Amino acid sequence: MASVVVREFESRHVAGAAEVLRRAHLRHIARQPLLALDPDYQRLIHREREEATGVVALVGETVVGYLLGRHASGLLGPHVWSTAAGHATDDPELISVLYQEAAASWFSAGLSRHFIFAPADREHIEPWFRLGFGASAFQAARPVDGPRDFDGARDVLIRLSTPEDLLEIASLVRELDLQLKASPSFSEIVVASEEAIAQDWRDTWELDDYTHFVAELEGRIVGQLLLYRRPTGDLRVPSRSIDLGNATTAVARRGLGVGRALTTAALEWASANGFSVMTTDWRATNLVAARFWPHRGFGATYLRLYRSIP
Ligand SMILES: CC(C)(COP(=O)(O)OP(=O)(O)OC[C@H]1O[C@@H](n2cnc3c(N)ncnc32)[C@H](O)[C@@H]1OP(=O)(O)O)[C@@H](O)C(=O)NCCC(=O)NCCS
Repeated sequence: MASVVVREFESRHVAGAAEVLRRAHLRHIARQPLLALDPDYQRLIHREREEATGVVALVGETVVGYLLGRHASGLLGPHVWSTAAGHATDDPELISVLYQEAAASWFSAGLSRHFIFAPADREHIEPWFRLGFGASAFQAARPVDGPRDFDGARDVLIRLSTPEDLLEIASLVRELDLQLKASPSFSEIVVASEEAIAQDWRDTWELDDYTHFVAELEGRIVGQLLLYRRPTGDLRVPSRSIDLGNATTAVARRGLGVGRALTTAALEWASANGFSVMTTDWRATNLVAARFWPHRGFGATYLRLYRSIP
């Protein structure tokens, strides 16, 4: 690594960075095939550079690694956001030298909270753990036609929802927000009222991007699950994939098989409608989700890593 120099990322580095990303992504696909097969790497780098600063690692004039982070703000305050295309290296050991340089400028610009997405395997995660990062969220995928042998509750009925279900759905969606707000997640989200959530969801049935299911038990809606046609063009979004955006079972009805029945129905619907991969994500600290989705066959593709410098 002696001949490696780290410089500010400039436009002339885009093509080289795209090549590093392509090589890294092909290695990732070899371990985890449920990813985008042929993304436009240069486009991804250009997108990642918007409102971002970062660095490249060079051997001579050849790019061997890069790290970019968008300067962002929001409920969390100023932070750095670097998605799956935000860094790549030919050698994961380069991560520490890249981060050392990039973090120096982020920190002096007042950005002390850093979010980084990395392939969910030991080789790519450990260099970040050694830099003080921890697991914040998982992105995951499973084949639609893989095992679906998780029967739900015997008396549960799963059906596509209708606009008439809106208020009951809003109440269930609010329960998801409350779950994220509680320990140990302590999410920064502001829990909206049921009326505000209903307003947000009002268009769901008019938009082609969404397919929504509800679960009925003893004539009452006790669960909901939303599928979302996530746009392709991202490393984590394979073609013919559909995203499981969120799911909730009413607190009093959890552990009875409602969630399993909803998941099975969603997978069956996805199969019948020509999708081959289902993606989802969850917060590492949402303990019920962190247990439930891996048991339903979802395997991690990327980890969102987080470091907050006190
Ligand atoms: C995640 C969530 C949707 C699961 O819903 P659920 O209806 O409780 O799910 P199920 O009852 O089908 O399964 C829960 C567990 O109970 C088990 N279970 C189901 N029926 C059972 C039964 N009859 N006897 C014993 N165990 C049973 C399941 O196997 C599962 O355990 P496992 O994941 O270890 O296999 C629910 O916990 C929830 O709403 N959480 C809050 C919102 C949230 O975090 N959503 C996910 C992120 S979007």
